[in-house]
Amino acid sequence: ADALKVGIAGLGTVGASLVRIIQTRANELATTCGRAIEITAVTARDRSRDRGIDISGIAWFDTPEKMANEADIDVFVELIGGASGAAADSVKAALTRGLHVVTANKALLAASGVELAKIAEEKSVLLNFEAAVAGGIPVIKALRESLTGNTVSRVYGIMNGTCNYILTRMEKEGLSFADCLKEAQRLGYAEADPAFDIEGNDTAHKLAILTTLAFGTQIAADEIYLEGISNISIEDIHAAADLGYRIKLLGVAQLTDSGIEQRVHPTMVPHDSVIAQVDGVTNAVAIESDILGELLMVGPGAGGNATASAVLGDIADIAKSSPGAQRVPVLGTPAASLAPYKRAR
Ligand code: NDP
Ligand code: HSE
Repeated sequence: ADALKVGIAGLGTVGASLVRIIQTRANELATTCGRAIEITAVTARDRSRDRGIDISGIAWFDTPEKMANEADIDVFVELIGGASGAAADSVKAALTRGLHVVTANKALLAASGVELAKIAEEKSVLLNFEAAVAGGIPVIKALRESLTGNTVSRVYGIMNGTCNYILTRMEKEGLSFADCLKEAQRLGYAEADPAFDIEGNDTAHKLAILTTLAFGTQIAADEIYLEGISNISIEDIHAAADLGYRIKLLGVAQLTDSGIEQRVHPTMVPHDSVIAQVDGVTNAVAIESDILGELLMVGPGAGGNATASAVLGDIADIAKSSPGAQRVPVLGTPAASLAPYKRAR
């Protein structure tokens, strides 16, 4: 079969890791996917920046929009970030052109996921976003595919690696909030604007996506009760520990008799619970459903390789898919059939 031609927009923490992995695992990927995966186009802001990757021989585009509209590619991979601007414009252009899209951009999906899913479904292309929620944990695939037929009653967990990293190091090593955040940024865990992490917005974006997949409703990020960790002090953490609890930033979405409840806030969890043991950049997502029961997934939630692993899985799914095949609905339910969002009273 012909090689799958991939264009990568954004060559930062995740994009550079992805390029490195695709290049170093080329033979294994060709064998498992049944065809080669070839990077044929890239774009970022600064062409001259040393990224520690070899992009010689790959077509460079000056803007993501130009790459989406003109590059010789089958798949447009968006690793730029942001709910609007270059990421949003180029993803829309790529889908409209009939290209498959892979993105790790939860801010974009929380804002425009339904609109984008509609375009993908009309064009019969894939819009994959496993990396957008809980990094390397395959939670999108679980909700979108594995749990088909289940009625989900609750989804909750630790969905932001930066916050969990900060809370863990403050508690275990007594480091200051500011130093932990700086370290999370250095390690490539934090968002370009880390306020999105520490104020809870990033968790809210992820939760909104999971809510739609779990309950088949419109994406409603604005309906989420939101409180981040920026006011949590070392004294709070110690006081919770004295009572037998650890503080975790949780996202929780659940069905109630009156509608859906979505909230993001620091939570005291009993010391001996599984979720309390989840440390550092690790994430954990629990899904409660009627046929399966409780599913708990724990794994790396942020960082270049963990995220690139999920992006690569999405690309591999496209490589293995047949042209014109029946597609899994992007958001689990066809975008045109999503129910209105009903907030719990
Ligand atoms: P970085 O900030 O490290 O990289 C962003 C890349 O996008 C850079 O290469 C930058 O170019 C490029 N870029 C920014 N603006 C533009 C623009 N207007 N036109 C062209 N290129 C642009 O981000 P990350 O790699 O950390 O994150 C990428 C995406 O993945 C985001 O959506 C993020 O939320 C998501 N994500 C990140 C995770 C992580 O652990 N880092 C985990 C899960 C998801 P240049 O390098 O030239 O400045
Ligand atoms: N900034 C995000 C986090 C990246 O720390 O979890 C992964 O989505």
